[in-house]
Amino acid sequence: MRVSVLGGGTIGSAAAEALNSSGHEVTVTRRSAAKLEKLENLGIRTMSDNIVAAQEAEIILMVLKPLDTLFLLEKIGDHTRGKIVISLAAALSTSKIKSLIPDSKVVRAMTNVAARVGGGYTVYSSDDLSESEEGVVSRLLNSFGKTEKVEERYMDALTAMSGSGPAYIFTIIEAMVYAGLKVGLPRELALRSSYQTILGSAKLVAEGNSHVSELRDLVTTPGGVTIDALYELENSGIRTAFMRAIEAATNKARKISEEIDRKGTQNG
Ligand SMILES: NC(=O)c1ccc[n+]([C@@H]2O[C@H](COP(=O)([O-])OP(=O)(O)OC[C@H]3O[C@@H](n4cnc5c(N)ncnc54)[C@H](OP(=O)(O)O)[C@@H]3O)[C@@H](O)[C@H]2O)c1
Repeated sequence: MRVSVLGGGTIGSAAAEALNSSGHEVTVTRRSAAKLEKLENLGIRTMSDNIVAAQEAEIILMVLKPLDTLFLLEKIGDHTRGKIVISLAAALSTSKIKSLIPDSKVVRAMTNVAARVGGGYTVYSSDDLSESEEGVVSRLLNSFGKTEKVEERYMDALTAMSGSGPAYIFTIIEAMVYAGLKVGLPRELALRSSYQTILGSAKLVAEGNSHVSELRDLVTTPGGVTIDALYELENSGIRTAFMRAIEAATNKARKISEEIDRKGTQNG
C-alpha cells in the first residue's frame, strides 16, 4: 500500500523503516527533510510537503506531537477524505481528530520505541473501519511488532504502560548493570546478563502457560539465594513504586488529553 508517514522523528522513522521492510511504498515527511537522509538511503521517499504526501497516500500515519498533529490536520484535511488516517499521537482523542477530518476513517493508535526492531506493542481503537479495513490496519501495524485492538477508554493507561514502558525497562536494565558492576562483573557481561534475563523471562510469561507468581515461586527456593534479593526488593517498595509511576503517567496523559479537548488549536 502507499503509506505516508507525516512526522519522521523517533517513532515516525522507526515506523517508516518497518513499513518499508514489510513491502509498503512509503513516503516520510518532516519540516527539516534533510534529517531523513538515513531513510532516503534505504529507498524511502522523503519530503517536507505534507499536502503532496497526503494526496498521494492510500493510508496516512500521523506521528507528531499532539498539538502539531492538530495543526497539520487543519492543513491537510482536504486531502484525507475517505482515507484511513492513523494517529500515533499520545493523548489525542478520536473525537478531537474527527472534529477536524470528519470525512476520514480515523484510527487512534499507540506504539512504542521497540517498533524500531519489530518488537513494538501497538494498541489501536477505531469505530470507523469495515472488516476489510480492520484487516488492512492491523496488518500495517503488525509491521511494528504485536498489535491489539482496544477500547479507546484504555488508551491513556496504555500510553503510560506500554508507550512509555520501554523507559521503565531501560531503567531496570541500567540498574541491574550497576548492580553487576557492584559485585564485580565486567560491564558488557553485566549488560548482557541483564537484558538476556529480561528477554527470556518475558518470553516465559508471553508463552502464557504459567502465572507470573508461579514462575517466580519456581525460582525462589527456601533459604536460597533469590529470596534474599526479593526481600531487599520488597523492602524497597518496588511494587508500589511501579504502581505510583504508572498511575502518575496515566494521570498526566489524561490531563493533557483533557486540556487538548478543551482548548486544542485556535480553530480546532
Ligand atoms: N517516543 C516514544 O517513545 C513514543 C512512544 C509512544 C508514543 N509516542 C508518540 O508519538 C508521537 C511522536 O513522538 P516522537 O517521539 O517520534 O517525537 P519526535 O521525535 O519529536 O518526532 C516528531 C516529528 O514531527 C516532525 N514535525 C513537526 N511538525 C511537522 C510538520 N508540520 N510536518 C511534518 N513533520 C513535522 C518533527 O520534525 P521537524 O521539526 O523536522 O518537522 C519531528 O521529527 C508523539 O505524539 C508521542 O506522544 C512517542
